[in-house]
Amino acid sequence: MSFGFGKEFRITVFGESHGACVGAVVEGCPAGLPLEEIDIQRELDRRRPGGRLASARFETDRVRLLSGVLGGRTNGGPITMLVENQDVDSTWYEENRHLPRPGHSDFPAFVKYGGMNDYRGSGFFSGRMTASLVMGGAVAKRLLSLSGVKVIGHIVQIGETRLQKEVGDQEIEAATLDGAMCADGETSMEFENEIERAAKEGDSVGGVVECRVLNLPAGIGEPFFDSAEALIAHGVFSIPGVKGVEFGAGFGLASMRGSEANDGFVVRNGKVATETNRCGGVLGGLTTGMPLIFRVAVKPTPSIRKAQRTVDLRAMGEAPIAIGGRHDPCIAVRAVPVVEAVAAVCIADLMVRGGKIPRRIGEQNGN
Ligand SMILES: Cc1cc2nc3c(=O)[nH]c(=O)nc-3n(C[C@H](O)[C@H](O)[C@H](O)COP(=O)(O)O)c2cc1C
Repeated sequence: MSFGFGKEFRITVFGESHGACVGAVVEGCPAGLPLEEIDIQRELDRRRPGGRLASARFETDRVRLLSGVLGGRTNGGPITMLVENQDVDSTWYEENRHLPRPGHSDFPAFVKYGGMNDYRGSGFFSGRMTASLVMGGAVAKRLLSLSGVKVIGHIVQIGETRLQKEVGDQEIEAATLDGAMCADGETSMEFENEIERAAKEGDSVGGVVECRVLNLPAGIGEPFFDSAEALIAHGVFSIPGVKGVEFGAGFGLASMRGSEANDGFVVRNGKVATETNRCGGVLGGLTTGMPLIFRVAVKPTPSIRKAQRTVDLRAMGEAPIAIGGRHDPCIAVRAVPVVEAVAAVCIADLMVRGGKIPRRIGEQNGN
């Protein structure tokens, strides 16, 4: 069991999809960080279900900041945040608890926990747990903002439709802030159409999220096993539905020559930089000072209305299944702030461990 992640800046997640709440505890956040509920709420609002192409589950996701903050600043203790689940309907799961959904965690969870797992909306395997990640990530983002570090993301592929243009950090930042799917408006519309087509057929589509971490100092990462890439990959693979991660040119590097793949060093504004960034801002597991860029493949939502094959675990026979309940036709769209949140937690942890973030922020009185 491991519901905690990170070494010095550490988050622990708790709750279930159809239980009372979901939440997060952050430990190791320096004292003195200005932090208010609105900092967390802003990020949660970007992840919240709703909108034309989203699940019909309506959650307001109002965060409660229960501990770790005094007078608008962190006090050095655990920061506890939660949102209550309000729009819970377990009917479909009660009626179908012996039919594991294809592509979902139901079957292996049933085996691991001897049938005592929370079958209602998959319990803690649910995408709802990503609200917890976003809460922890919001604290990390706030902390990173003091060093000028920004974590931004958007969608670069939905189903077969790919973003074909180069887009700059500023365009992505604007998209990140206003919750647009893709930094390019035209491509966003094509993405919407692709999702709509799948939804109409009772089906779902996957997608690719691109995330960029900007203004990072060089030399962040803790080799051997907690390299910047290793930690981010670990964190990102904990997001339900994620099936692939690549840094920089990623899998494309395998078909390049060294002369094409290497990023030449240059001096820009008195600093060492690289003229290209095919390594995605990481060499030897350490940041290079260039933007850290990675892409995350998110599979199509497993729960679909289309008929599929499954088994009845009581009768031990095959049975057809068409999934009811309320599900997003494309989870990649809602995964953007989640991927950003996980990246922020990883980078905050590595920056604290690397001595780039002080243990206490602001004035010190007395000894
Ligand atoms: C934001 C978000 C929302 C999700 N919503 C749903 C959903 O509505 N229905 C569903 O079947 N899966 C949903 N998932 C994905 C499942 O939780 C996930 O596929 C499942 O737990 C199995 O894990 P795996 O795909 O990582 O193997 C969601 C994932 C995320 C990140």
